[in-house]
Amino acid sequence: MAKPVRTLSFLERKRAGEKITMLTAYDYPTARLLDESDVDAILVGDSLGMAVMGLADTLGVTMEVMLHHTRMVTRSVKRALVIADMPFLSYQVNAEEALRNAGRLVGQACAHAVKLEGAAEKHGEAIRLILQAGIPVMGHIGLTPQSVHQFGGYRVQGRDAANRQRLKEEALGLQEIGCFAIVLECMPADLAAEITESLTIPTIGIGAGAQCDGQVLVFHDILGWGVARFTKTFADARATMAEAVESFAQEVKAGTFPGEEHTYQ
Ligand code: KIV
Repeated sequence: MAKPVRTLSFLERKRAGEKITMLTAYDYPTARLLDESDVDAILVGDSLGMAVMGLADTLGVTMEVMLHHTRMVTRSVKRALVIADMPFLSYQVNAEEALRNAGRLVGQACAHAVKLEGAAEKHGEAIRLILQAGIPVMGHIGLTPQSVHQFGGYRVQGRDAANRQRLKEEALGLQEIGCFAIVLECMPADLAAEITESLTIPTIGIGAGAQCDGQVLVFHDILGWGVARFTKTFADARATMAEAVESFAQEVKAGTFPGEEHTYQ
């Protein structure tokens, strides 16, 4: 079996100049597919609120939902690093609650690490407690979707000098406190490149250009469900699935399915 990917592997990849790959998965078969591929890490992202629950944003995703989906994923994974998102209000209320919730994602749902959104300036106490308990933490800055209402929409971050400086400081702060990697979401490529250059821990970009140490995308987006500029349809599985569903319906109506070979005598 291929060597398991762990948080230390992320640092090794950065030092060796090897790109890190991460995709989301929210269920057993998808996680299995990714685990059997070359993808380094699986993110049980709270993007599942939009991707599979039909919510307008990530704010309605609860701890129970994250535990449910993380369990499905970790049941099938043998090799990839599994990172579970800490959902809205699971770490913002106080540090003790943050630790308890991170502990549930790792202890009860078997994630290897957790990810939370925002600067160490805001969540430092929570991050420190989680790290002290032995749980690796991935940071996430830039367009942090749990703050969508504060941003006034899904907007590219770090466009002016003050915000560029703030994001650079946030990245350094998260490294200093002990995060093993940081997601940089939706920011100009040159800013993400500067941040990446300034850190010893890896950056994983989404809508942050090619100079990040790795890239993450939402699984459904690479299969034809994506709408954002930064996603790419690597295979139009959505169209293939629609064709399969249509063929099934037509064959049933025409009486050509099930055939002899699908029938018990
Ligand atoms: O929830 C998620 O899928 C994420 C990625 C888009 C980074 O946080």
